[in-house]
Amino acid sequence: MDKMIDRTSGDGPVRRYSNTAVAIHWITVALVLFQIWLGLSFADLAQGPDRTQLFTWHKTIGATILILTLARLTYRLTNAPPLFSPDLPKWERIAAVWNHRLFYILLIAMPIGGYLAVSGQAKGPTTPLLGEISIPVLPGVSEGMGELAGDVHKAAAFLLIALIVVHVAAALKHQFIDRAPVSGRMPPFRTPHDEPVVIGQGDGVRAVEG
Ligand code: HEM
Repeated sequence: MDKMIDRTSGDGPVRRYSNTAVAIHWITVALVLFQIWLGLSFADLAQGPDRTQLFTWHKTIGATILILTLARLTYRLTNAPPLFSPDLPKWERIAAVWNHRLFYILLIAMPIGGYLAVSGQAKGPTTPLLGEISIPVLPGVSEGMGELAGDVHKAAAFLLIALIVVHVAAALKHQFIDRAPVSGRMPPFRTPHDEPVVIGQGDGVRAVEG
């Protein structure tokens, strides 16, 4: 089976994510929740200045999520995530790894899908973002391709929401029902019985204060 899923830390302290990974995680959470709210809000509005403004925010936050996720993925590929505790059943490790992989895939594919959709319906060579920024639209995207990309983008939004629901339910279940240390891997969650925690991301294990 997958080596990544079999990587556990054996006995010893709980391994947590580094401060860099934790900061990017919570910034992404804020941006993604705001982005979902924006997407659902402007979809219901008639054409007009209010819709245009929400749409400009949506495009800008989408571009930010894409850049942040590419940076996060690069960081993660060069700083291996902390090993799982062997107490976590194997099926939960498989579920967690796939939940996280699908997040990365969607957080990269969804902004690109949105970009294709915008390019298919653009009236000129650029599209505006916040702060007087304009970015070029992708050349050669037909209206039909743009519509298809838009439909996939909308369907993916519901998959993303489902992934978030499962992810949050798992984190809360581990923390408050199982009282297992796994959520303590992502501060400000703490291990429920004050089990010792070390930073276990990258090439070494460091004390939390280090
Ligand atoms: C937009 C919403 C969210 C996204 C996209 C997201 C994404 C992710 C990803 C990709 C990871 C794995 C990090 C890595 O290995 O690189 C992760 C870990 C984690 N997240 Fe989230 N997350 C979201 C919301 C939340 C929320 C609201 C909570 C808490 C209620 C939470 C709690 C955790 C915990 C505890 C972990 C560590 C779990 C483990 O290591 O198995 N996340 N998240």
